Amino acid sequence: MTTVQILSALVAVATFTLCVQGHPEYIALIPNGLNLVDPCNPNITAHGVGHINPDGAGPLNPFGMDFVAECRKWTQELCQKDSDGDGLTNGQELGDPDCVWSIGLTPALSTGLSHPGVNEKTVQC
Ligand SMILES: *[C@@H]1O[C@H](CO)[C@@H](O)[C@H](O)[C@H]1NC(C)=O
Repeated sequence: MTTVQILSALVAVATFTLCVQGHPEYIALIPNGLNLVDPCNPNITAHGVGHINPDGAGPLNPFGMDFVAECRKWTQELCQKDSDGDGLTNGQELGDPDCVWSIGLTPALSTGLSHPGVNEKTVQC
């Protein structure tokens, strides 16, 4: 292994150790993380916004992948991105259209939300 490969491996391990732990606490790290419903059934709360399964375990959806890439932080880049390709930014879907929310603040909007990891126009329910 070259020095670069060794450093890359160390960075990967450090990133994994620092960033990839647990699940439910992360929904407080995005605006309205506790207020989203399953796109296929408004009676079900979407506990795992970053996961394909609304119960919150298993494979990540496109928003979950982008969230992980930002080290699970609500960054400007994550807010302005349209992870699920439905034409709305993640911020618009989560009630932070101006990308000003941070942990502990009340999001600008609490209604008219949609799921940032599911394209509601194409999802098969
Ligand atoms: C949601 O709940 C309401 C009231 O219980 C029920 O009438 C409706 O069928 C439910 N919708 C789905 C998609 O399960």
